Order: sequence, then structure tokens, then C-alpha cells
Amino acid sequence: MANRNYILMHKHIPAADIQLDGATGVIRSIGTIKNPEHIPVGIPVKNGIADRQALNSWWAGRAIPASRDRIQDALKKLGVSSTQLLLEKCLGLSLSDQYWICPVSENIQWEDINFFQNDFSDDVGNILFGRGPSSERMNMMSPDNTSDGWLKKKWVIADGKRCLLKGGSGATQQEPYNEVIASIIMKRLGIPHTSYSLTVQEDYPYSLCEDFITSDSELITAWYIMQTERKPNHISIHQHYLNCCSALGIPGIQLAVDQMIVLDYIIFNEDRHQNNFGVLRDAETLKYTGAAPIYDSGTSLWFDKPATMIGSVKAVCKPFKTSHEEQIKLVSSFDWLELEKLDNIEDEWMELTKNSLFLDENRRRAIANALRNRIQRLDKILRSSIHMVSGTGGDVVEDIKYSGYFDPSGP
Ligand SMILES: Nc1ncnc2c1ncn2[C@@H]1O[C@H](COP(=O)(O)OP(=O)(O)O)[C@@H](O)[C@H]1O
Ligand SMILES: [Mg+2]
Repeated sequence: MANRNYILMHKHIPAADIQLDGATGVIRSIGTIKNPEHIPVGIPVKNGIADRQALNSWWAGRAIPASRDRIQDALKKLGVSSTQLLLEKCLGLSLSDQYWICPVSENIQWEDINFFQNDFSDDVGNILFGRGPSSERMNMMSPDNTSDGWLKKKWVIADGKRCLLKGGSGATQQEPYNEVIASIIMKRLGIPHTSYSLTVQEDYPYSLCEDFITSDSELITAWYIMQTERKPNHISIHQHYLNCCSALGIPGIQLAVDQMIVLDYIIFNEDRHQNNFGVLRDAETLKYTGAAPIYDSGTSLWFDKPATMIGSVKAVCKPFKTSHEEQIKLVSSFDWLELEKLDNIEDEWMELTKNSLFLDENRRRAIANALRNRIQRLDKILRSSIHMVSGTGGDVVEDIKYSGYFDPSGP
């Protein structure tokens, strides 16, 4: 298969000439850099030469991950041999940023093809959902070709709005419920967030959230923000992120990170990796506007654990520390936090999950209790931090800080 020449575009602006390998879809070479400031954030450009390896992993990262649930079956049905080749079928366009590739021989305008303003086919989405295409002739122009993450998902247009429909996993299919309760928690606490609602299709639960990106903005994940500077060994990941954001002039990051850590403590999130949070910028002026509203909080509330382990504090924590007890210590201020706003949140959980075919009564109750325990545990930390500030002691937190592993009864 012949190699193909493209211009890597950033909305209307050409960033660089690139050549993609016809057989694999990887970037074989980078030609002229046309606008270095429009090369994706975090890709080093030195003396007019972009780092090909870094650009390649950025490009590969736009494809559906090879680990996506049942992706091999979907690729077979689509007749495409890899997710990276599928990426080319939609010109790399996404609903999370404004990058795309324009074949050099064609005069294509962003207005005519972007998914924010143009409808898109749901053939790929349907196949990713294990259904057939809606017509004989498959149309692969879809933002689903550039969707990240492990869970089954597809973009839909509902009432003219672009929305992400995302499933759950395993025997409990718990992630969609978690997204919704996390939204409710954040709404009550005043944390800027992506709002998720629950929908059920063919008995399976899904979460639905609106695209928080518009045709003028874009998401840049923390991973790429952290590539903008070298991290000295003595600087922690947390500090490095704050430093990079500060050097780029991104407002409000300390508070946003504090709020994310607190949310993840409460819901016991296990997968806040560096692509599960980030910042927003204006795609044309390149001016950063602040933190992205919190998204993807489904890997929490012991979603993949048996009921007997619900409440256990033995699990991984990301992105800054390996335990939530350590990570919560990074919070610079709890001044904004009013935990009493979470009174009776367990009732919302019970109400939300009452019709689930996957979560039985025992599991739902165990999670409700564990959630209450997390809030009480955080409350103790808050009280002790107030004591410490006022110099009246700091002993309250000690018994829970190092309390160790399995703790079904909470603090
Ligand atoms: N509401 C949204 N608006 C814009 N982009 C989104 C939105 N939700 C998710 N994304 C993008 O899609 C990716 C996959 O979604 P995510 O919720 O993280 O799925 P998963 O749970 O499978 O990791 C995210 O990493 C982000 O880049
Ligand atoms: Mg994710």
C-alpha cells in the first residue's frame, strides 16, 4: 500500500507536512514545519524539526486503544486491520480537539468536515456496540475512530448536541452509575464537572455526557502538559504539573487539582491517570482558559470488586500518589469544601441504582455505607487540619492516616 502525504492541520492552520505509512498508518516522516506553535502541545520542536517519535505516539494515541473491549471483532467487521488505520478514515478528526490531517492532493476545508458542525455516521459506533452498520455501504467518517479509553463508547447527536454514550464493564456494569453519582457529588460541592446522566439500552446501563469541547476549544490532557518541561528528579509529579501549568499561564489549576483529589478520595477512584484530566485552551488564540471540567470518574466505588471487599482501602491510587491517604495530604486548602452538602448522598445512590439488573441490594447497600464512611473519614482529616492550623493538636487524623488496609467499617 502506497504511503500517503498529508498536512497535519490545527483547525484552519497547517502545522506540518507529514507522510503516513500506507500499511500501518504510522508517521514515516515529518516534512516542513509550517507553524511550530500549532504543533500539538508537549511535542518537542528543535531548530525547526519535530520529534518524530513523540509525534508518532501522540498520533497513535488518537486511535482507539488496542485494549478496547472487543475491538478486534469490530475491526474485522469494518475490514480495517488496525485502529491506527481506522484513524485515517476520519482524517484524525475528534470531538475533543481540533487536529486533523488533510491529504495534500485535496482541497478540504475544516468547516466542511469537522464533527462539531457536521453530522456524522453512526456505522462505526454501532459496530463498536456490537450492532450492524445502518447501511450496506459503510461510512467510516466518525469521531468514534478517535475515542480513547477502554470502555465501550460512541458519540451521538442528541437534540443537536454532541454527547458521549459510555457503557460499563464486567458483571456489575457499575461505571455508568458511578459517573452519575460522581456528578451529583461534584454538583453539591460546587466542583466544575462534566454532568453525566443515566440511560438504559437493551437492559444495559450507559452514561451520557455532553461534549465539553466546542469548535473553538480543545482538551489537552495532563500528560501532554507535563511534557512541556523536563521534570527534575527532586520535583514530585504533583508539583511538576502545577509548575508546567503556571509556566503556561493556565489559571485556577491549584484549586482544580485540590478539588479533583478530594472527589477521588470520596469516591475512591482507582484510575485518575494523566489522560483522565487536563486543561482547556482556545484552539485559535492558543490561550489557556483553565482546567477541564472533571470527566471519567467511573473507575471508583469498588466497581470491579466483589461485595465482600467494598470499603477496602487496599487499591491503587493515581495520579500523584499510590494511596488516597497520601494523596489527600497534597490538598493545599479545604476552605471551599462543605462536606455537610453531602448529607444523605447515600440515598441518592440507592435511588439511582434501584432498577439496576446488575447491582443487587447487598452490593448497593454496601456501597452506600462505604461512601458514607469515606465522607466521615475525610471529615476527620478536615477537622484535624483545622486543629493543626489553630495549633490545638493534630492527633485526630493519626489513627486513620496509617490505619492500613481492609477497613469495611470505615474510620
Ligand atoms: N464530555 C467530553 N467532552 C469531550 N471529550 C471527552 C468527554 N468525555 C470524554 N472525552 C474524551 O474521550 C476520552 C475517553 O473518555 P473517557 O470518559 O475517559 O473513557 P474511558 O472511561 O473509557 O477512559 C477522554 O480521555 C477524553 O479525551
Ligand atoms: Mg478515560
